[in-house]
Amino acid sequence: MTVASVFSGKNIVVGITGSIAAFKVAGWVSDLAKEESLVSVVMTESAKKFVTPLTFSALSGREVFSAMFDQTSGSSMAHIDLGREADLLVIAPATANTIAKLSAGLADDLLSTAVLAARCNVIIFPAMNSRMYAHPATQANILKLRNLGYMVVEPDCGTMACKEEGAGRLVEWDVAKEYLASALSIQDLKKERIVVTAGPTREAIDPARFLSNRSSGKMGFALARCARRRGAEVVLISGPSSIEPPLGVKVIKVDSAQEMCDATLEEAAHSSIVVKAAAVADYRPTTFSSQKVKKENIESNLTLAKNPDILYLLGQQKRAGQILVGFAAESQNLLAEGGKKLDKKNLDLIAVNDISSSQAGFEVDTNQVVLLDKKGHKKLPLTTKHHTADLILNKIIELREL
Ligand code: CTP
Repeated sequence: MTVASVFSGKNIVVGITGSIAAFKVAGWVSDLAKEESLVSVVMTESAKKFVTPLTFSALSGREVFSAMFDQTSGSSMAHIDLGREADLLVIAPATANTIAKLSAGLADDLLSTAVLAARCNVIIFPAMNSRMYAHPATQANILKLRNLGYMVVEPDCGTMACKEEGAGRLVEWDVAKEYLASALSIQDLKKERIVVTAGPTREAIDPARFLSNRSSGKMGFALARCARRRGAEVVLISGPSSIEPPLGVKVIKVDSAQEMCDATLEEAAHSSIVVKAAAVADYRPTTFSSQKVKKENIESNLTLAKNPDILYLLGQQKRAGQILVGFAAESQNLLAEGGKKLDKKNLDLIAVNDISSSQAGFEVDTNQVVLLDKKGHKKLPLTTKHHTADLILNKIIELREL
């Protein structure tokens, strides 16, 4: 199976400075190594008081750097090489002292020298006592760093190791990871506003029961996350799903097909791309009973009405230059059925899912789709839903450039 993530094969330098939060970054390094990044950890002298270099070399599987002129290291120019060869330089946790040093352009240790020599994006994650963080000197230094082009991520609020409350806690890895992913992604969707629909819809019968389907929302959420990482403004319209929404995305939660229809038509009116990955229930009960229906009466009560075909309506209202992408859940004649939907719904692209495969379609983390446009079709590899999302976005960019 093809698996590719934005992190795999990337040279990432992680600079660790002297804060109690240094131990948390062990988890970051471990996850990056699992994602197949080549992680070079650089520790300041005070960072080594909190965590040993051995921890990081064991987790990254690579040498940990610290001294400026280390004869044992393969290169006598490590301070230059590290910054020069990195795809991304991350400083976490960044103390008030390191922030002050970097804002002044000092280069008195390996990490600060590597930052000055860096050609890549630099992301700084501050972590310190809340009064140190709020101090005008620290705030002025952060502003200076931002003006120099570094990304400085706001720390979390909460109770600190020193038992004080306020802003200064190192952000959690799931949040930090999105900043790293965006910095490593090409920003080829920067000018786009994308609406993605995801998940199932629920059609209520009574307060206890509803009609729905097996969609988990994984494909739509992956599309929203990848589009955001690539710079798009993203609106995610989702039916009920247990997945955590991606960072930096506007989320509109809906329940029924009609609610999804109203929200999608409204958002699509001012968007350049619409991707309908949701599995919309085709039918709803004709009436909703505000009291629970007794089981003896369900059969006589359950008559169905057709829901609007949201994608068809979007196709009717498509604006000039707007790209409309649909999904098709099929169990046979994939190309013929997908082709019919492409024409009927006035789409630019359709991703056809073979739902009879156990590794594609509903609930699973992998997918294999055939992409069909007016000019032809292409079978994508069996891969993660995230990678599938990136491949679909690549195709959208290709259509945009035609
Ligand atoms: N879709 C929609 N509104 C509906 C039904 C489907 O917007 N009421 C969209 C889905 O989000 C998907 C595409 O239409 O992008 C195709 O959905 P699919 O369930 O494969 O096809 P249907 O049009 O419902 O046709 P059928 O179930 O008969 O194959």
